[in-house]
Amino acid sequence: MYIIILGAPGAGKGTQADILSQETGLPRIAPGDLFRQALERGTESGLAAKRYMDAGVLVPDEIATEMILERIAEPDCSSGCLLDGFPRTLHQARALDQALEERGESIDKAVYIEVPSEDLAKRLTGRWLCRSCQTPYHEASFPPKTPGKCDKCGGALYQRSDDREETVRGRLSVFFAQTAPVIDYYEQQHKLLRVNGRLSIHEVTAEMMSALKQPMSS
Ligand code: AP5
Repeated sequence: MYIIILGAPGAGKGTQADILSQETGLPRIAPGDLFRQALERGTESGLAAKRYMDAGVLVPDEIATEMILERIAEPDCSSGCLLDGFPRTLHQARALDQALEERGESIDKAVYIEVPSEDLAKRLTGRWLCRSCQTPYHEASFPPKTPGKCDKCGGALYQRSDDREETVRGRLSVFFAQTAPVIDYYEQQHKLLRVNGRLSIHEVTAEMMSALKQPMSS
């Protein structure tokens, strides 16, 4: 299954993709994480992506698309994957459809995690991530058992530089301007499922699991 997880910054895409990956065995592919890992390794694409991420705008389509299409061609994605944060533009959505079609595959479902704008900024400014495995925590709603340490791997927790309030505002407007058309794109293909992202993390997972089991109406 090829599943897309859509949602504004802070909607809980990474949190849910992580849980669904453990539940389904499908690998989670997230361009934001791939860019941050590339930057840690000091690669050209990581350095190129950094200035866009720091500014809270999308990395150009060619860079993001090439990186994701290369990643999903790897053997661990041969039975499918969870795409967290890709596509974010119509250009990316069409390129993904075309690449999958060439392999005789297609997107099965796109799940849109809906959260009102007023909640998103609070989630992002209170977020902490594991530097080793990228698991997200929140200082109020999902704190780690030991402050500063990842429950899963013991890695050190850090705050992302683009989670500052002023950058968050820009990221949210980019989402509503550039990614909203992608939601319509999957709705028109009858592949879109909406889940209420305001529920607790476990309730959102339950909604997503049940939505993914539903047959789609054509
Ligand atoms: P990326 O890393 O993908 O960031 P994002 O989309 O802005 O999403 P986030 O990771 O900030 O949020 P999330 O929805 O995963 O929420 P999370 O689960 O962490 O992208 C970063 C940058 O990379 C972009 O700005 C762009 O520059 C570039 N980029 C990425 N993809 C690209 C693409 N396709 N094309 C071009 N450029 C691209 O949760 C947030 C917080 O809320 C956490 O603290 C969590 O614990 C908490 N939380 C989660 N669920 C709940 C809940 N149900 N209730 C209460 N709290 C919750």
